[in-house]
Amino acid sequence: MNNIDTQPSAAPVIQALRSIGYNAQTAIADLVDNSIDAKAKNIYIEFEYSVGNGFIRIEDDGTGMTEKELQKAMTIGSKDPRTMRKKDELGRFGMGLKTASFSLGKRLSVLTKKDGIVSERCWDLDYVSDVDKWLLYKYIPDDVKVKMGDIDSDNGTIVFIDLLDRFSGTGTHKVLKKESYYAKVNRIQKYLEMVFHVMLEQGLIMKINNNMLHPWNPFLEGNSRVNEGEEQIIRVNKKFVKITPYVLPHPSTFNQTEYKNAGGIKGWREQQGFYIYRESRLVSFGDWFGMFPKDVPSELVRIKVEFTNTADDDWKIDVKKSTISVPDEIKEDLKSIAKYYRQISQEIMLYRTKTMKLGQRIKGTLNTWELATDDIKSAYVLNRTHPILTEVLKTVDDKLRKKLNVYLKLVELGSPSNLLKTDNMVKKEEQEIDDKSKHLIIEYAETLLSVGVELDIEKLAETISMMTGFEGIEIYTIKKILEREVINDGSSNS
Ligand SMILES: Nc1ncnc2c1ncn2[C@@H]1O[C@H](COP(=O)(O)OP(=O)(O)OP(=O)(O)O)[C@@H](O)[C@H]1O
Ligand SMILES: [Mg+2]
Repeated sequence: MNNIDTQPSAAPVIQALRSIGYNAQTAIADLVDNSIDAKAKNIYIEFEYSVGNGFIRIEDDGTGMTEKELQKAMTIGSKDPRTMRKKDELGRFGMGLKTASFSLGKRLSVLTKKDGIVSERCWDLDYVSDVDKWLLYKYIPDDVKVKMGDIDSDNGTIVFIDLLDRFSGTGTHKVLKKESYYAKVNRIQKYLEMVFHVMLEQGLIMKINNNMLHPWNPFLEGNSRVNEGEEQIIRVNKKFVKITPYVLPHPSTFNQTEYKNAGGIKGWREQQGFYIYRESRLVSFGDWFGMFPKDVPSELVRIKVEFTNTADDDWKIDVKKSTISVPDEIKEDLKSIAKYYRQISQEIMLYRTKTMKLGQRIKGTLNTWELATDDIKSAYVLNRTHPILTEVLKTVDDKLRKKLNVYLKLVELGSPSNLLKTDNMVKKEEQEIDDKSKHLIIEYAETLLSVGVELDIEKLAETISMMTGFEGIEIYTIKKILEREVINDGSSNS
């Protein structure tokens, strides 16, 4: 015999498996992947705080498992990563259930029901370490079972993790305080709202401690002010990658809440970059992969890149589903697409950040409407240099161009805001407005300035006047308030 069967020893392998680099967010997301793979429509996650022994419980109404399936599922390496996975399937390595759970706590109990038949298993790492053998409990200890509860319908699964030494310091000398614990839970919620936003938008119900999760869409899809770039499909090793670029509107066009929300978990500047999706599940976000710096003028660009699980090898997806590596074959394509949209972002940012003279025409912005102001009148005019319009005008003959221009003039004249705010928008008398609105104006201006948007006072007042909630307040009034309360030198500021 030339070979020797060399079994890994249980105790040290367990310790190593606990440390493959999950954090609480990626671990929970990996467990949610399993519920989604099991076709769950409802996923309820519960985090129970207790200094002695809190727990994490994930219940789903997916297909559940037979006892045989569960036994296999609890095995470290339950499936060969090289086997072909179903379309849409998020699993790959046959590891996640175990590794993600062990990164949080020392005991994993799974209760599952398939067609009304209940099965259970439990890994207790203290026991595995003691006996130094991969001995899996057939039954969940009674005290745990009480906390786990039952599965109401005929199919579903409860994954229960306790002895949370890693997650909350249970049994160590660094037990998390209650506030920090729930702050952590809150961050997990935000993370899941981002990573699973597509599924949430498609109707998946997910709750954490009874709070409903709401999808966070990085591209603000559905917001008409977002510029969606041209979709491109590129082949990498015979597999398709879909790329859709988005350029968000200028920050000053958001109200405070919208602005904060659009910034996501890391804030506007950090969230720029590529968003890589594998089977509609976000695996990497806000990253230029070393191609570009994350500068403020480019912060409006977010580029969606979608690949399928058949391309896992090309993208080198990891067990945690949180890092990938961009295949060399498409690096150049991605770079040139990003470069183009970064320029658009820079233009939008620049237009708003430059000190503008009154009535100055703006070239090359993507805003369809602009406010043209002179000393007595102001009106909204169409941006005749909008890239799309320029493109269209190039392709039509003279006759059609003239007709189109007449039509656009009519659209301008008939613009609802031009009809409402007839002459004399530049009033010389300040309106009386209530304190709440006044306060909001000040707060909003301060937010804009604090994020480093450099606007002169006219532009600032104009921007605020266009916000919903400030209708009916004249620019002159807003300007006066700003002069008094926000900007003391009465001119531009930083
Ligand atoms: N909530 C669940 N409902 C039904 N089956 C599940 C559930 N969780 C896990 N399973 C089963 O257990 C198996 C093992 O899960 P595990 O997460 O360890 O590996 P995987 O999902 O196949 O791959 P990966 O390591 O990439 O996550 C799954 O393939 C699935 O068959
Ligand atoms: Mg899995």
